[in-house]
Amino acid sequence: MKKSDHTSEQGYGTTGHEWDGIEEWNNPLPRWWLWTFYLTIIWGLGYTIAYPAWPLISQATTGLLGYSTRAEVAEEIQRVEAANADINGRLASVELTSLVEDPELTQYATSSGAAVFRTYCSQCHGSGAAGVQAAGYPNLLDDAWLWGGSIEDIHTTITYGIRNEHPDSRYSEMPAFGDILSDEEIAQVVNYVQSLSGASQDAQLAAAGEELFVDNCSACHGEAGEGDPLQGAPNLADAIWLYGGDFETLTETVRYSRYGVMPNWDDRLSEAEIRAVTLYVHRLGGGQ
Ligand code: HEC
Ligand code: HEC
Repeated sequence: MKKSDHTSEQGYGTTGHEWDGIEEWNNPLPRWWLWTFYLTIIWGLGYTIAYPAWPLISQATTGLLGYSTRAEVAEEIQRVEAANADINGRLASVELTSLVEDPELTQYATSSGAAVFRTYCSQCHGSGAAGVQAAGYPNLLDDAWLWGGSIEDIHTTITYGIRNEHPDSRYSEMPAFGDILSDEEIAQVVNYVQSLSGASQDAQLAAAGEELFVDNCSACHGEAGEGDPLQGAPNLADAIWLYGGDFETLTETVRYSRYGVMPNWDDRLSEAEIRAVTLYVHRLGGGQ
């Protein structure tokens, strides 16, 4: 590299760089480019003053315009709520049983009820409402109901929940028969329970279990094991199982009992939302 002593057309010298005889002029940046550059800096600074930008210790600067994406969402929600206020008011106040006679309300309730279900219920009952067997989350698609399948029954179940802290919660408690019956007696009564739905069992044990069933179980589950929706006692004769119908699972249920809990929703959902999801569940196929 050698230093050059000539100047460009604009009168500037070279940078001093030279490769194989090609030299680099030290011409300044075009004026328009430079001004655009300065403008972007000013714009950038202005932007960070107007909008939330600089991270501080606990939160970022809020910006002079007071804009936030959170406020925008809140506004949007408020707009939708205002638009639906009328129909939600009607949904919350109309006689529960006559809900289904109003086609506009029914349509609105089932579609908004589906959204409520996806958000609040699908974790336990499954996104298709088919429940999770073995975990004790009932299938809401069939017409087997623990606590009754009429609109009013479903409404009460959802509003107050089951075996929770709410004073109006649905409540019942199956005793843990491990403390009451011997292992042999439990094997007998379990075989009898299996015989109710025609599942294979040991006929001798099952016969011995009948009297045990009448004495210990029929007060809740009914003479023929048909269940009792007033106590949330499942039908044991329909081959639909909340926890499972094989010998081991039944033995565990009878020995330790289960105590399935469902939360109450009266403090988290509005009456209109509860009714919407009630109607949605009722219309899933098994409503009575
Ligand atoms: C934390 C889990 C959980 C969530 C969340 C939940 N459930 Fe449940 N639900 C249960 C359990 C467990 C049972 C069965 C309780 C029993 O054994 O009696 C149940 C029972 C029910 C029943 C009674 C079914 C019958 O056969 O009588 C209905 C109806 C129901 N749930 C609807 C809902 C709706 C609607 C939502 C959402 C708003 C919801 N559940 C959210 C756990 C849950
Ligand atoms: C005080 C009422 C009560 C009595 C007595 C009772 N049960 Fe239950 N049983 C229930 C309730 C309520 C459930 C619902 C499960 C829960 O606790 O979450 C249940 C559930 C069951 C289940 C589970 C069914 C399923 O679908 O998975 C079986 C099996 C069962 N009981 C058998 C028996 C047998 C056998 C006896 C007698 C030895 C008996 N129960 C006595 C109330 C009772």
